[in-house]
Amino acid sequence: MIAFIAHGFFAAGSVAAEPDIADPRLVRLVRQDCGSCHGMTLQGGLGTPLTREALSGKPADSLAATILYGRPGTAMPAWKTLLTEAQAQWIANRLLDGFPEE
Ligand code: HEC
Repeated sequence: MIAFIAHGFFAAGSVAAEPDIADPRLVRLVRQDCGSCHGMTLQGGLGTPLTREALSGKPADSLAATILYGRPGTAMPAWKTLLTEAQAQWIANRLLDGFPEE
């Protein structure tokens, strides 16, 4: 019984690892800071497009890693000092869904 509860707890915990950041600040960061390269509508600019169509089929984990660590040799900077892993994962998942408007 305890194991069952603990399991339920951890399952809930792993959902919480993707925080429910209906956080307007994070949406704004992506629209503005990421948008400065990827375009305000994320259709691309200096950076590649980050639309649902453009990212279709790319694994969320690798997108999150690109966000956290950047792409050496390209203009894509690392965001690990500003974003947590969970936030990068959240952004990657939202990008794959079609990023929410501010
Ligand atoms: C200084 C410009 C710049 C900024 C700011 C920037 N990026 Fe990028 N980003 C790039 C470039 C250039 C690439 C393409 C790298 C390459 O050629 O592989 C890229 C690639 C990516 C990719 C990989 C896309 C793919 O098709 O695999 C993701 C995801 C991404 N950026 C997300 C973000 C997010 C999220 C932010 C904000 C937290 C951000 N970027 C901010 C320039 C930028």
